[in-house]
Amino acid sequence: MTQKKNSRDRAVFATRFGAIATTVGSAVGLGNIWRFPYEAGIHGGGAFLICYMAFVFLIGIPVICAEFCMGRQTRSNIFGAYRKLRPGSPWYLAGYIGILASILILSFYSVVAGWTVEYCLTSAFGQLDFTDTATGHRQFMEMTTGWRPVVWTVVFLLCNFIILIGGVTKGIERASNILMPLLFLLLVSFCINSFTMPGFYEGLSFLFSPDFSKITPSVLLGALGQAFFSLSIGLGCMMTYASYFNNNSRLGKTAMTTALLDSMVAVLAGIIIFPAVFSFGLSPEAGPTLVFEVLPYIFSQLPAGVIWSTLFFLLLFLASLTSTVSMSEISITYFCEEKKMSRQRATIVSSLLGLAGGLVCALSFGPLSHVTICGQTFFSLFDYLSSNICLPLGGMICCVFVGWFVDKKIIRDQFTDRGKYRFPLLGVLVFCLKWICPIAIFVIFLNSIGLLHL
Ligand code: PFF
Repeated sequence: MTQKKNSRDRAVFATRFGAIATTVGSAVGLGNIWRFPYEAGIHGGGAFLICYMAFVFLIGIPVICAEFCMGRQTRSNIFGAYRKLRPGSPWYLAGYIGILASILILSFYSVVAGWTVEYCLTSAFGQLDFTDTATGHRQFMEMTTGWRPVVWTVVFLLCNFIILIGGVTKGIERASNILMPLLFLLLVSFCINSFTMPGFYEGLSFLFSPDFSKITPSVLLGALGQAFFSLSIGLGCMMTYASYFNNNSRLGKTAMTTALLDSMVAVLAGIIIFPAVFSFGLSPEAGPTLVFEVLPYIFSQLPAGVIWSTLFFLLLFLASLTSTVSMSEISITYFCEEKKMSRQRATIVSSLLGLAGGLVCALSFGPLSHVTICGQTFFSLFDYLSSNICLPLGGMICCVFVGWFVDKKIIRDQFTDRGKYRFPLLGVLVFCLKWICPIAIFVIFLNSIGLLHL
C-alpha cells in the first residue's frame, strides 16, 4: 500500500490506475468464481441472477460511492471516518459491524482459498483425478474433511500474513495488474469451451431464463448478500481503500468500473459452471462444494488439462489473496489508528483473529461437522451472518449516514474533485442513498424474517 506518503504521512496510491486495479482486485475473487455459481445454483439460477444484477446496480454502486466518499474525505479507518464526519455522535459504532464482518469473512474465505492451494498443487503434481463424477466427489471429500483443510487454511493465512507484514502489498498489486487480466482471459477461454458441451443450452437457460415464481424472500436476501460480498461493501473495505486514493482519482468512474468488471466475472463463471453441471449430470444445488467438484471435469475435457487446471487454481489463489489483503486492511487500520498499535502488531492481531476463525471453519467439514448452531455449521454460519446480515446492515447505515448526515458540499467536492469534473449523476446518487437503498435493504430484511410479505 505504501506507494507514496501524503502530507499527513498516510500512504496513498500513486496512480488512478493503481486505485482502480486494487479496488477491482479486492472485489474479484472467490466471491465471483466460487460463491456466485453456488448461490445461483441453490437459488434457482435466472431468478437469482436478475435479483443480483438489480442489487448491484441499484444498491451496490451507490454504497460503493458512499464508502469512497467517506474514506477519501476523512482518510481514516471506518471508525475514524464516521467520527470525523459527525464528531461526538454514536455513528462510529457501525465500525464494529465492519470489523466483525471482516474477521468472519476472512475465516471462511481462507478455508476455500486453502482448497484452491491444495487443488493447484495436486494438479501441478498430476494427482488430480478426473476419471468420473464419483471419483471427483471422493477426491473433494478427502481434501476437505478431516484435518487436511486445516493445513491448507494455515498455509493460505500465512501467505496473507507474509504479504501484509512484509509490506509487499505493492508487489502483489503489480502482480495482480498482470495476473487479473490473465485470469479474465482464462475465464473467457473456458467460456468458449462451454459452447462445446452437451449441456450448454440447458446450463445457459438455467442461468439466463428467470422463473419469477422462484423469487422468494431467501432468494432476495441471498442475492443482496452476494452483491455486497462480491463488491466488498458494507464493512468498510472500500472506505479503507478510498482513504488511500489520491485526490484526482475519479470516484464515480472507479465505482462503475469495479461493479461492471466484478459482475462480468461472476456471469462468466456462471457460463462456465452451469453447462458443465448439466453435461455431467450433477445437481446445481450442490452448495459450497459445487465449483470444486465441477471444475476438474471441465479441465479433463481440455487438451493439456493439467496445465489449464494448475494455472487456473494458481490465479484463483492470487485473486483470493488480493481480496484477503483488502479485508485484513479494515482491522489493521482500525488497530493502528484507533488502538495506536504499530502496523506490525496490528497485522499480527488481525491475522490471529482470522486464524482462530479459520480453524473453526476448516474443521466444520470434518471433526466439527456435527457442531451446529441454528442448524448451520460454523462455516455456513460465518458466511450467512457476515454476507446476509452484517454487510447489508453496514451498507444501510452507510447510505443513511452519507445521504442524510453528510454535507452535500462534501459529496459534490468528492465526486467532482472540487468542481474540476462534471458528475451529472450526483442528484440520482443522493436520492438512492437517502431513499432507495435504505428502504430496499430494510424491506428485504423484514421480508426475510417473515414480518412483511412481498
Ligand atoms: N469481494 C471478494 C470476493 O468476491 O471474493 C470478497 C471480499 C473481499 C469481501 C473484501 C469483503 C471484503 F472486505
